[in-house]
Amino acid sequence: MKNYFQTIFKDLLDKIQDKDIQEKVVLVLTEAAIQGKWDIEDIEKIPFTLLTDTKGINLIEHTRAVTYGALGLADALTNNYKNMPFEINYDFLIAGGILHDVGKFIEIEKDKDRHIKGRRGRMLRHPISGAILAAKFSLPEEIQNIIANHAKEGEGRPQRIETVLIHQADFATFNPMKMLVSNNLILGA
Ligand SMILES: [Fe+2]
Repeated sequence: MKNYFQTIFKDLLDKIQDKDIQEKVVLVLTEAAIQGKWDIEDIEKIPFTLLTDTKGINLIEHTRAVTYGALGLADALTNNYKNMPFEINYDFLIAGGILHDVGKFIEIEKDKDRHIKGRRGRMLRHPISGAILAAKFSLPEEIQNIIANHAKEGEGRPQRIETVLIHQADFATFNPMKMLVSNNLILGA
């Protein structure tokens, strides 16, 4: 399991300069997948959300897209603002991106050929279970802030800049899917 996550996220993990954070990110992913009782062959079948039809986009693809999206936003600010009013920590951003939905390995369960929100997911939504797991492996509180506050739990709450960027990248991937289903996404030329 550990090797699987090291391989599937290698390009992103390699960008994390702090080796301790890099290692702990993999440990948290592995622990979540084990707690959620996922086999490797089932992991890439987990939809990234249960809230809308994902059109086959899985949790790993989504996690990668959100992390790269947030990285793009971070670079856009860094490369265009002459005076950055705040510092962006790229290690926190990437680690938080890879882990923002790690709680979904616990929240979502397989029920025959469909995916449902399980008992543990009803107890604690993924931002909470994910942050708890990150804390268990002593990842910095800044990364816990990203995981805990990237979704509606974070609305109106104090957030890191990395949390804001992950949140925006997350919704940039989620909203079009919802709009597609409700026929509010205008397609074609
Ligand atoms: Fe997400």
